[in-house]
Amino acid sequence: KKMSILGVPMDLGQMRRGVDMGPSAIRYADVTKRMEKLFYEVEDLGDITIKRNNGMIDDTHPLRNLQAIIEVNTILSDLVDKVIKKGNFPLVLGGDHSIAIGTIAGIAKHYDNLGVIWYDAHGDLNTKETSPSGNIHGMPLAVSLGLGHPHLTNIGSYSPKIKPENVVIIGARDLDQGEKALIREKNIKIYTMHEIDRLGMTKVIEETVMYLKERTDGIHLSLDLDSLDPHDAPGVGTPVLGGISYRESHLAMEMFAESGLITSAEFVEVNPILDERNKTAEVAVALMGSLFGEKLI
Ligand code: ARG
Ligand code: MN
Ligand code: MN
Ligand code: MN
Repeated sequence: KKMSILGVPMDLGQMRRGVDMGPSAIRYADVTKRMEKLFYEVEDLGDITIKRNNGMIDDTHPLRNLQAIIEVNTILSDLVDKVIKKGNFPLVLGGDHSIAIGTIAGIAKHYDNLGVIWYDAHGDLNTKETSPSGNIHGMPLAVSLGLGHPHLTNIGSYSPKIKPENVVIIGARDLDQGEKALIREKNIKIYTMHEIDRLGMTKVIEETVMYLKERTDGIHLSLDLDSLDPHDAPGVGTPVLGGISYRESHLAMEMFAESGLITSAEFVEVNPILDERNKTAEVAVALMGSLFGEKLI
């Protein structure tokens, strides 16, 4: 088993500085050792360079920092593509969630029906028209579905990357009006906190796995640490109360491991400046342990 780790210290998709230190914090939480214990041969490709223009925010476009985000995601897409071509499992470390645009662009061309599990407090289904913030980290799932600025949707030179029926959102509890309308319109499968409370995480993941198993040929897990309750994962830029617990998340990761269906993953939105002694990065690495089979070995 071979894995390539790729850091994307991106913080231009939102307004709180510090999430660019996410990849570093996750490395300090010993991600490589943890994976090696699970018999992965790990190659750490290091971090992509983000041009930060002396900390200046580019507000010239309603999509904040659009140009820089296009550039980084284009590079990311090519790197992830190469990782898959050589047969390695891509594990991408964020950075804010705008990097999912590039990760998915690099992955989806290798599958006819890529499934995506969006484990997040948010839908990240906004476009320029619906976004309350202009922050591109609130848009990557829409972009991957082919909705949004053409320079974003065409990264990797194809669009859309994924089909709405191959997406499952888990953990949502802060959806904007336009996102709710889109979920309804496209009939996207979603387990909000309401369904997680009602059905229990076991049922939610059983259903998710069954649903994606019969219609996809690979599954990407895009895990935003703000999916967890802020009590368990305080180091995130857009915390929302009433989230998924640490234990429920381990259960979910263990069930994904048992399914054997996950073919790529990214862990995003770890912000060490907002964290408590690197707790959130440690949670991320612990969840990776479960996702990559700690219980099965
Ligand atoms: N829905 C809000 C927005 O569009 C928040 C998005 C938060 N996204 C995230 N990846 N944490 O601005
Ligand atoms: Mn989120
Ligand atoms: Mn909101
Ligand atoms: Mn997100």
